[in-house]
Amino acid sequence: MLNIVLCSLFMLPAVLPQTNNPNSSACTGSTHIYYNYAPDHVAPFIAPERNMQRVQGKSGPRGQKGEPGQKGESARTEGLENRLAKVEEELTLAKRQLDALRVPPSRPTCAYYDELDFESGYYLISPDPTRFQPVYVYCNFSQHSAATIMNHDLTGEIEVERCEARKCSEVSVNYNLPLEVMIQIANLSAECKQYVKFRCQSVFLFRNSPAAAWLSRGGIAMHYWGGATSGRDYYCACGETGNCVDPVWKCNCDKNSAPEALDEGFLTTKDALPVTGFLFGDNGDNEENAWFTLGPLVCTGRQG
Ligand SMILES: *[C@@H]1O[C@H](CO)[C@@H](O)[C@H](O)[C@H]1NC(C)=O
Ligand SMILES: *[C@@H]1O[C@H](CO)[C@@H](O)[C@H](O)[C@H]1NC(C)=O
Ligand SMILES: *[C@@H]1O[C@H](CO)[C@@H](O)[C@H](O)[C@H]1NC(C)=O
Repeated sequence: MLNIVLCSLFMLPAVLPQTNNPNSSACTGSTHIYYNYAPDHVAPFIAPERNMQRVQGKSGPRGQKGEPGQKGESARTEGLENRLAKVEEELTLAKRQLDALRVPPSRPTCAYYDELDFESGYYLISPDPTRFQPVYVYCNFSQHSAATIMNHDLTGEIEVERCEARKCSEVSVNYNLPLEVMIQIANLSAECKQYVKFRCQSVFLFRNSPAAAWLSRGGIAMHYWGGATSGRDYYCACGETGNCVDPVWKCNCDKNSAPEALDEGFLTTKDALPVTGFLFGDNGDNEENAWFTLGPLVCTGRQG
């Protein structure tokens, strides 16, 4: 027990930044240990003056009389005592966290941490212990239902490559987790969604044709856009609500004119997510410009 706690305690800084490598800690033995705690995750638990309980140890054999101390010795002793007190404090905290976490069965998604009242941060989950190593994901506990957040390498708004033909510009997405693990997390969740935005200046998305697409988890070209919850081909959010800038089309960008327009919303077809890529076109001229944004895959709830 003590080894586990100490291990958990001292590995903290080394473990945290390496989100998905189960080998990153020397602490992964046969025991299933959750050890990714940063001090700032757990700050609310700390109330040192009031809650610290010093445990009186057994007295050991009497020590030898030491050499007379050098000048400055007492200050150093005091420093060491302070450090010791701090370690004891952290030890108490780590023990409490371990007790809280060692609740069988292991937690397959963030939704299974929901009742513990933790702060949002990186947590280990085990979506399928028979097939995958546990992985770190960001758990957002600040919303109504705990969310498992899966990030990728396309952060922020990205300019679409210049080319004119339909689907001539191909973009692929690299996630922090293997696709099979993400699919398993989606399967274990009640809902998953992913935000997409297309900002355009004289560049269209569909115009009632498969001129652009997002690629499903299986690499299939999907011809609707975020916010079009019916999943009908060539629809954006405004097409469903009937308030596109030009009612002839089902996306704002399909008006295909200046000034700039915007189509955005969440893709919610759980069994097609995550988005693995995009195909864009109609962006060959200098007065044509387009940008897209892809949010993380966000899964909530428990399946079944
Ligand atoms: C973890 O260690 C094992 C055994 O050394 C190795 O086979 C595996 O590839 C390592 N995994 C990672 C993610 O580094
Ligand atoms: C967590 O959820 C809250 C509430 O929905 C949201 O405002 C916040 O941006 C989310 N944080 C992350 C990192 O996703
Ligand atoms: C997810 O569920 C689908 C359909 O329910 C199933 O075909 C697929 O094998 C599951 N994927 C994983 C990774 O378990």
